Amino acid sequence: MTGTEKKYWIKNAHGDGYCPNQSLFRMLTAAGFAFPSANVLEVGFGHGADLKECARRGANVSGIDINAHDVETMKGYFSDQNNQNFVCLDIGNSPLLNAGLKTEKFDLILMMDMIYYLSDEEKSFAIKNLSRSLSDDGFILIQTIRRDLVLGTPVGIDDIPDFSAIESKALENLSEKDNPMDYTPPSAIIDMCRRANLKNMAKKMTLESYGNSEDFFRCKTYLMFSPET
Ligand SMILES: C[S@@+](CC[C@H](N)C(=O)[O-])C[C@H]1O[C@@H](n2cnc3c(N)ncnc32)[C@H](O)[C@@H]1O
Repeated sequence: MTGTEKKYWIKNAHGDGYCPNQSLFRMLTAAGFAFPSANVLEVGFGHGADLKECARRGANVSGIDINAHDVETMKGYFSDQNNQNFVCLDIGNSPLLNAGLKTEKFDLILMMDMIYYLSDEEKSFAIKNLSRSLSDDGFILIQTIRRDLVLGTPVGIDDIPDFSAIESKALENLSEKDNPMDYTPPSAIIDMCRRANLKNMAKKMTLESYGNSEDFFRCKTYLMFSPET
Protein backbone atom coordinates (compact mmCIF):
# COMPACT_ATOMS: atom_id res chain seq x y z
CA MET A 1 0.00 0.00 0.00
CA THR A 2 1.19 3.53 -0.63
CA GLY A 3 1.62 6.14 2.10
CA THR A 4 -1.54 7.89 0.91
CA GLU A 5 -3.64 4.75 1.25
CA LYS A 6 -2.27 4.06 4.74
CA LYS A 7 -3.64 7.42 5.83
CA TYR A 8 -7.10 5.85 5.95
CA TRP A 9 -6.24 3.78 9.05
CA ILE A 10 -3.78 6.27 10.51
CA LYS A 11 -6.59 8.82 10.75
CA ASN A 12 -9.60 6.53 11.43
CA ALA A 13 -9.61 5.26 15.01
CA HIS A 14 -12.35 2.97 16.31
CA GLY A 15 -15.14 4.04 18.65
CA ASP A 16 -16.97 2.06 21.31
CA GLY A 17 -19.63 -0.58 20.82
CA TYR A 18 -17.61 -3.54 19.49
CA CYS A 19 -17.93 -7.06 20.86
CA PRO A 20 -15.68 -10.14 20.58
CA ASN A 21 -15.91 -12.29 17.46
CA GLN A 22 -17.78 -15.45 18.43
CA SER A 23 -16.63 -17.40 15.34
CA LEU A 24 -13.00 -16.75 16.25
CA PHE A 25 -13.36 -18.05 19.80
CA ARG A 26 -15.36 -21.05 18.63
CA MET A 27 -12.55 -21.95 16.18
CA LEU A 28 -9.80 -21.52 18.78
CA THR A 29 -11.72 -23.64 21.29
CA ALA A 30 -12.23 -26.37 18.65
CA ALA A 31 -8.46 -26.30 17.98
CA GLY A 32 -7.82 -26.86 21.69
CA PHE A 33 -6.11 -23.52 22.27
CA ALA A 34 -5.56 -22.94 26.00
CA PHE A 35 -5.89 -19.27 26.97
CA PRO A 36 -4.66 -19.24 30.61
CA SER A 37 -1.12 -17.75 30.66
CA ALA A 38 -0.80 -17.91 26.85
CA ASN A 39 0.91 -14.97 25.13
CA VAL A 40 -1.43 -13.55 22.51
CA LEU A 41 -0.57 -10.82 19.98
CA GLU A 42 -3.10 -9.13 17.71
CA VAL A 43 -1.85 -7.25 14.67
CA GLY A 44 -4.26 -4.45 13.74
CA PHE A 45 -6.37 -4.87 16.88
CA GLY A 46 -8.36 -1.65 16.30
CA HIS A 47 -11.18 -1.59 18.87
CA GLY A 48 -9.46 -4.46 20.71
CA ALA A 49 -12.59 -6.43 21.65
CA ASP A 50 -10.97 -9.79 20.79
CA LEU A 51 -7.85 -9.02 22.82
CA LYS A 52 -10.00 -7.99 25.79
CA GLU A 53 -11.83 -11.33 25.51
CA CYS A 54 -8.47 -13.21 25.34
CA ALA A 55 -7.40 -11.38 28.53
CA ARG A 56 -10.73 -12.24 30.19
CA ARG A 57 -9.94 -15.91 29.41
CA GLY A 58 -6.56 -15.62 31.17
CA ALA A 59 -4.12 -14.77 28.34
CA ASN A 60 -1.34 -12.16 28.48
CA VAL A 61 -2.20 -9.84 25.62
CA SER A 62 -0.15 -7.59 23.34
CA GLY A 63 -1.05 -5.65 20.26
CA ILE A 64 0.25 -3.53 17.43
CA ASP A 65 -1.69 -1.13 15.27
CA ILE A 66 -0.86 1.63 12.81
CA ASN A 67 -3.44 3.89 14.50
CA ALA A 68 -1.88 5.77 17.43
CA HIS A 69 -5.24 6.63 19.00
CA ASP A 70 -6.33 2.97 19.16
CA VAL A 71 -2.94 2.10 20.72
CA GLU A 72 -3.34 4.79 23.40
CA THR A 73 -6.90 3.62 24.13
CA MET A 74 -5.68 0.05 24.71
CA LYS A 75 -2.80 1.22 26.89
CA GLY A 76 -5.37 3.03 29.01
CA TYR A 77 -7.66 -0.01 29.19
CA PHE A 78 -4.79 -2.28 30.34
CA SER A 79 -3.19 0.38 32.54
CA ASP A 80 -1.98 -2.25 35.01
CA GLN A 81 0.43 -3.64 32.41
CA ASN A 82 3.03 -0.84 32.40
CA ASN A 83 2.35 -0.03 28.78
CA GLN A 84 4.91 -2.21 27.05
CA ASN A 85 2.35 -4.42 25.41
CA PHE A 86 0.80 -2.06 22.88
CA VAL A 87 2.83 -0.42 20.17
CA CYS A 88 2.09 1.77 17.17
CA LEU A 89 3.74 0.01 14.22
CA ASP A 90 3.25 -0.55 10.49
CA ILE A 91 3.48 -4.35 10.19
CA GLY A 92 3.97 -4.01 6.44
CA ASN A 93 7.50 -2.67 6.73
CA SER A 94 8.70 -2.67 10.36
CA PRO A 95 10.35 -5.63 12.13
CA LEU A 96 8.36 -6.77 15.12
CA LEU A 97 11.46 -7.76 17.08
CA ASN A 98 12.59 -4.10 17.32
CA ALA A 99 9.14 -2.80 18.21
CA GLY A 100 9.79 -2.62 21.95
CA LEU A 101 7.14 -5.17 22.97
CA LYS A 102 7.78 -6.76 26.37
CA THR A 103 6.99 -10.26 25.03
CA GLU A 104 9.09 -11.74 22.20
CA LYS A 105 7.42 -15.12 21.50
CA PHE A 106 3.70 -15.63 21.11
CA ASP A 107 1.47 -18.70 21.39
CA LEU A 108 -1.19 -17.07 19.24
CA ILE A 109 -0.95 -14.26 16.69
CA LEU A 110 -4.20 -12.85 15.32
CA MET A 111 -4.65 -10.93 12.07
CA MET A 112 -8.36 -10.26 11.97
CA ASP A 113 -9.92 -8.26 9.16
CA MET A 114 -6.65 -6.50 8.34
CA ILE A 115 -4.39 -8.41 5.93
CA TYR A 116 -5.97 -6.74 2.86
CA TYR A 117 -4.67 -3.36 4.03
CA LEU A 118 -1.19 -4.54 3.01
CA SER A 119 0.19 -4.89 -0.51
CA ASP A 120 1.29 -8.39 -1.58
CA GLU A 121 4.90 -7.47 -0.83
CA GLU A 122 3.93 -6.16 2.61
CA LYS A 123 1.81 -9.25 3.30
CA SER A 124 4.81 -11.53 2.65
CA PHE A 125 7.05 -9.31 4.78
CA ALA A 126 4.52 -9.29 7.64
CA ILE A 127 3.92 -13.06 7.58
CA LYS A 128 7.67 -13.85 7.61
CA ASN A 129 8.19 -11.22 10.29
CA LEU A 130 5.41 -12.67 12.48
CA SER A 131 6.47 -16.29 11.98
CA ARG A 132 9.78 -15.45 13.70
CA SER A 133 7.88 -14.36 16.80
CA LEU A 134 5.75 -17.49 17.00
CA SER A 135 6.49 -20.12 19.68
CA ASP A 136 7.27 -23.64 18.40
CA ASP A 137 3.75 -24.88 19.12
CA GLY A 138 2.02 -21.57 18.45
CA PHE A 139 -0.69 -20.58 15.96
CA ILE A 140 -1.21 -17.71 13.54
CA LEU A 141 -4.86 -17.08 12.73
CA ILE A 142 -5.67 -14.93 9.70
CA GLN A 143 -9.24 -13.92 8.95
CA THR A 144 -9.97 -12.50 5.54
CA ILE A 145 -12.93 -11.75 3.30
CA ARG A 146 -13.63 -14.34 0.64
CA ARG A 147 -16.49 -12.77 -1.27
CA ASP A 148 -19.34 -10.31 -0.93
CA LEU A 149 -22.61 -11.78 -2.14
CA VAL A 150 -25.83 -10.13 -3.22
CA LEU A 151 -29.11 -12.00 -3.24
CA GLY A 152 -30.53 -11.33 -6.70
CA THR A 153 -34.17 -12.17 -5.99
CA PRO A 154 -35.56 -11.26 -2.55
CA VAL A 155 -37.06 -14.21 -0.68
CA GLY A 156 -40.04 -14.35 1.67
CA ILE A 157 -39.32 -14.36 5.40
CA ASP A 158 -40.14 -18.08 5.71
CA ASP A 159 -38.26 -19.15 2.57
CA ILE A 160 -34.76 -20.59 2.40
CA PRO A 161 -32.69 -18.47 -0.04
CA ASP A 162 -31.47 -20.15 -3.19
CA PHE A 163 -27.74 -19.58 -2.76
CA SER A 164 -27.00 -21.00 -6.19
CA ALA A 165 -28.71 -17.91 -7.66
CA ILE A 166 -26.76 -15.24 -5.80
CA GLU A 167 -24.49 -12.78 -7.48
CA SER A 168 -20.95 -13.24 -6.17
CA LYS A 169 -18.53 -10.34 -6.31
CA ALA A 170 -14.89 -10.05 -5.34
CA LEU A 171 -14.24 -7.72 -2.48
CA GLU A 172 -12.59 -5.01 -4.56
CA ASN A 173 -15.87 -4.27 -6.32
CA LEU A 174 -17.84 -3.64 -3.17
CA SER A 175 -15.48 -2.06 -0.62
CA GLU A 176 -15.88 1.58 0.41
CA LYS A 177 -14.28 3.97 -2.05
CA ASP A 178 -11.61 5.36 0.31
CA ASN A 179 -11.09 2.14 2.31
CA PRO A 180 -7.98 0.81 0.56
CA MET A 181 -8.52 -2.96 0.62
CA ASP A 182 -6.20 -5.05 -1.52
CA TYR A 183 -8.13 -8.28 -2.10
CA THR A 184 -6.04 -11.44 -1.89
CA PRO A 185 -7.63 -14.86 -2.29
CA PRO A 186 -7.22 -17.24 0.69
CA SER A 187 -5.13 -19.60 -1.50
CA ALA A 188 -2.55 -16.81 -2.00
CA ILE A 189 -2.38 -16.26 1.78
CA ILE A 190 -1.82 -20.01 2.27
CA ASP A 191 1.04 -19.86 -0.30
CA MET A 192 2.66 -16.87 1.44
CA CYS A 193 2.45 -18.70 4.78
CA ARG A 194 3.94 -21.85 3.24
CA ARG A 195 6.92 -19.77 2.08
CA ALA A 196 7.33 -18.67 5.72
CA ASN A 197 7.32 -22.34 6.83
CA LEU A 198 3.79 -22.21 8.20
CA LYS A 199 1.32 -24.97 7.39
CA ASN A 200 -2.42 -24.50 7.20
CA MET A 201 -3.85 -26.80 9.88
CA ALA A 202 -7.45 -25.57 10.07
CA LYS A 203 -9.88 -23.42 8.14
CA LYS A 204 -13.46 -22.32 8.44
CA MET A 205 -15.89 -20.15 6.54
CA THR A 206 -18.77 -17.99 7.71
CA LEU A 207 -21.60 -16.47 5.69
CA GLU A 208 -23.49 -13.67 7.37
CA SER A 209 -25.97 -11.05 6.28
CA TYR A 210 -24.73 -7.56 7.10
CA GLY A 211 -26.25 -4.49 8.68
CA ASN A 212 -29.99 -4.94 8.72
CA SER A 213 -30.49 -6.18 5.16
CA GLU A 214 -31.21 -9.75 4.09
CA ASP A 215 -29.88 -9.04 0.59
CA PHE A 216 -26.17 -8.54 1.24
CA PHE A 217 -23.92 -11.31 2.60
CA ARG A 218 -20.26 -11.34 3.51
CA CYS A 219 -18.38 -14.62 3.25
CA LYS A 220 -15.30 -14.76 5.49
CA THR A 221 -12.49 -17.28 5.77
CA TYR A 222 -10.55 -18.10 8.93
CA LEU A 223 -7.16 -19.74 8.33
CA MET A 224 -5.12 -21.22 11.15
CA PHE A 225 -1.40 -21.94 10.70
CA SER A 226 1.26 -23.65 12.77
CA PRO A 227 5.04 -23.89 12.24
CA GLU A 228 6.17 -26.58 9.81
CA THR A 229 8.07 -29.16 11.88
C1 LIG B 1 -10.90 -3.29 9.86
S1 LIG B 1 -9.89 -2.96 11.25
C2 LIG B 1 -9.96 -4.53 12.10
C3 LIG B 1 -9.96 -4.40 13.60
C4 LIG B 1 -10.06 -5.72 14.36
N1 LIG B 1 -8.88 -6.55 14.12
C5 LIG B 1 -11.31 -6.50 14.00
O1 LIG B 1 -11.23 -7.69 13.68
O2 LIG B 1 -12.41 -5.93 14.04
C6 LIG B 1 -8.23 -2.97 10.57
C7 LIG B 1 -7.19 -2.58 11.61
O3 LIG B 1 -5.89 -2.80 11.07
C8 LIG B 1 -5.07 -1.67 11.36
N2 LIG B 1 -4.02 -1.57 10.33
C9 LIG B 1 -4.19 -1.26 9.00
N3 LIG B 1 -3.01 -1.29 8.36
C10 LIG B 1 -2.07 -1.62 9.30
C11 LIG B 1 -0.64 -1.78 9.24
N4 LIG B 1 0.03 -1.62 8.09
N5 LIG B 1 0.02 -2.13 10.39
C12 LIG B 1 -0.66 -2.28 11.55
N6 LIG B 1 -2.02 -2.13 11.67
C13 LIG B 1 -2.71 -1.80 10.55
C14 LIG B 1 -6.04 -0.48 11.34
O4 LIG B 1 -5.55 0.64 12.03
C15 LIG B 1 -7.27 -1.10 12.00
O5 LIG B 1 -7.25 -0.98 13.39
